[in-house]
Amino acid sequence: MNRSTGDDRVVALVPAAGMGVRLGENKPKAFVHVGGSPMLTWAIQGLIASGSVDEVVVMVPAELVDATRALLPASAVPVHVVTGGAERTDSVRAGLDAAPDADFVLVHDAARALTPPALISRVVAELRAGARAVVPALPVSDTIKSVDATGAVTGTPDRSGLRAIQTPQGFDARLLRSAYATGTRATDDAGLVEMLGTTVRTVAGDALAFKITTPLDLVLANTLAAQRDPADIAGGLDTTREAVTAP
Ligand code: CTP
Ligand code: MG
Repeated sequence: MNRSTGDDRVVALVPAAGMGVRLGENKPKAFVHVGGSPMLTWAIQGLIASGSVDEVVVMVPAELVDATRALLPASAVPVHVVTGGAERTDSVRAGLDAAPDADFVLVHDAARALTPPALISRVVAELRAGARAVVPALPVSDTIKSVDATGAVTGTPDRSGLRAIQTPQGFDARLLRSAYATGTRATDDAGLVEMLGTTVRTVAGDALAFKITTPLDLVLANTLAAQRDPADIAGGLDTTREAVTAP
């Protein structure tokens, strides 16, 4: 059994209330299917299969709360469904409000449906080792340039010092609540914590944790899902805690 036996309670908040405008499937993105299952189902299964999460809170559009409850896997890990908000920040705040008992919080995009459970475990391990804020990071392969409003290049930062940041992002729950209490908005939860002056640690990210954003991403996700061992998926569906194993 690899599930934590520590006293600290780890709650995963899953923002899944976005409209998926860039994907263009005419439905909230988390409910678009990948390999025959909604992205949201994959994301929840990955969190459960990590063995590192005590509870999951999912934030979805108001009209999909009941439908979401109906599609949840039977699991020893409780999964709660609440109404999200107009922007991602609002959805995360709704999730925080629904997780008053959390000691550590993971914020994990439903759109990162194929995130390996081992990455989730890495983030939690770093929190348990004493970090107060943790993000998965990957080196960037493209050269990144800054531009001004006219599109003219204003600079080329040294690529060796840049990272692409994924989810789950992990936090001391009180720290993230403080960050949200400032009322600042951000696309990235760690960005709010940085504004408080707290150090954010990185762990190795994983290319499979990519965010399904565009139609091309969906093609890739479906190809990868078709190759995934069904036993891995079933791991997240087991109803006994002991049977849940990380691949
Ligand atoms: N999200 C959310 N609530 C919102 C907006 C986004 O919970 N009001 C969630 C999405 O469901 C997704 C994650 O935040 O899991 C990352 O957002 P993004 O990839 O931008 O998804 P969408 O907002 O759905 O996509 P788009 O911006 O193309 O509409
Ligand atoms: Mg969005």
